[in-house]
Amino acid sequence: MKPLMNDVLLRALLRQPVPYTPVWLMRQAGRFLPEYRALRAKSGSFLAMAHSPDLATEVTLQPVERFNLDAAILFSDILTIPEAMGLGLRFENGVGPVFEKPLQDEKTVRMLQPVDLEKLSYVMDAVSSIRRALSSRVPLLGFSGSPFTLACYMIEGRGSRNWLTVKRMMYARPDLFEHIINVNVDSVAAYLAAQISAGAQAVQIFDTWGGCLSAEMFRRYSLESMRRVIERLPKEHEGRRVPVIVFTKGGGLWVRDLAGIGADAVGLDWCVSLSEVRKAVSDKVALQGNLDPAVLLAGETVVRQEARKVLESYGPVDGGGHVFNLGHG
Ligand code: CP3
Repeated sequence: MKPLMNDVLLRALLRQPVPYTPVWLMRQAGRFLPEYRALRAKSGSFLAMAHSPDLATEVTLQPVERFNLDAAILFSDILTIPEAMGLGLRFENGVGPVFEKPLQDEKTVRMLQPVDLEKLSYVMDAVSSIRRALSSRVPLLGFSGSPFTLACYMIEGRGSRNWLTVKRMMYARPDLFEHIINVNVDSVAAYLAAQISAGAQAVQIFDTWGGCLSAEMFRRYSLESMRRVIERLPKEHEGRRVPVIVFTKGGGLWVRDLAGIGADAVGLDWCVSLSEVRKAVSDKVALQGNLDPAVLLAGETVVRQEARKVLESYGPVDGGGHVFNLGHG
């Protein structure tokens, strides 16, 4: 494999000197791109695209061909793990993801086993295929849901505002809840390590729902499980560091904790000020974010102005440490 032509993202994540602030965007491949909608219509569904290494490669490359981005992100979904565990995933119009067999009774929970990576080999095939297609232009990011965020969908069976089924189990049956978290830690660590072996050059852990927890429960169940995942990841591959990004949506109150679990970078939503967070974590980790995605609805002048504010809020970047992104997908 020839050396990366653009390694600005990897350098920024490791807080090494960079010529400019690198950019990638959560959900950079997706429905806003006409070429994505065309391929989705042809292939029939989102899951059909995600399951096919060839289609996933094509979709991953779409935004990279169109925009001057500093990274590609694997086209897939965080719900591949529970799907491979046999929970029966489908996407319903107007509802979003739905699991046919959620984990709602003791017997089902006790039977849960760490995911068989063989069932996710299509993801690793996509990673290798994307690396070939990128031919070292920009790095490829792999990703997974966090153990807690995956547990949310696995228990609730679908998206939710308050996750009451999840929280009832967490408070009333911590033994069952902890079993699910432990199985997810094993699964997420093995899945991310496999993505790294297949060629992912950095990885992001999406903790989309960690912010719904109390401080105590966040630390006990979300933060600690991400720390255990990161501890098990290979630090290097192909002679290069593989940076880890953790992104807890709504995690602004706990940035100091998030900066201390072994990740190289913390992703931030738009609710926090980059300059305040930078001070709070004393440059111990790189920061990623955090333009409010709603700004994109306001037209080019406002987008430019608000994007500039994000850069100014972080401050000087010659020492790396900032990756521009949206505050959410
Ligand atoms: O960022 C990227 O471009 C990489 C691809 C990616 C997708 N999903 C593609 C996708 C990533 C990283 C995800 C992660 C994901 N999936 C998360 C965490 C990310 C976050 O923003 O916090 C979550 C919670 C999911 C679960 C999921 N998948 C939901 C809630 C939905 C929306 C369902 C709907 O009806 O809109 C999806 C589907 C999905 N994942 C789409 C894409 C491009 C849309 C599929 C389509 O309709 O074409």
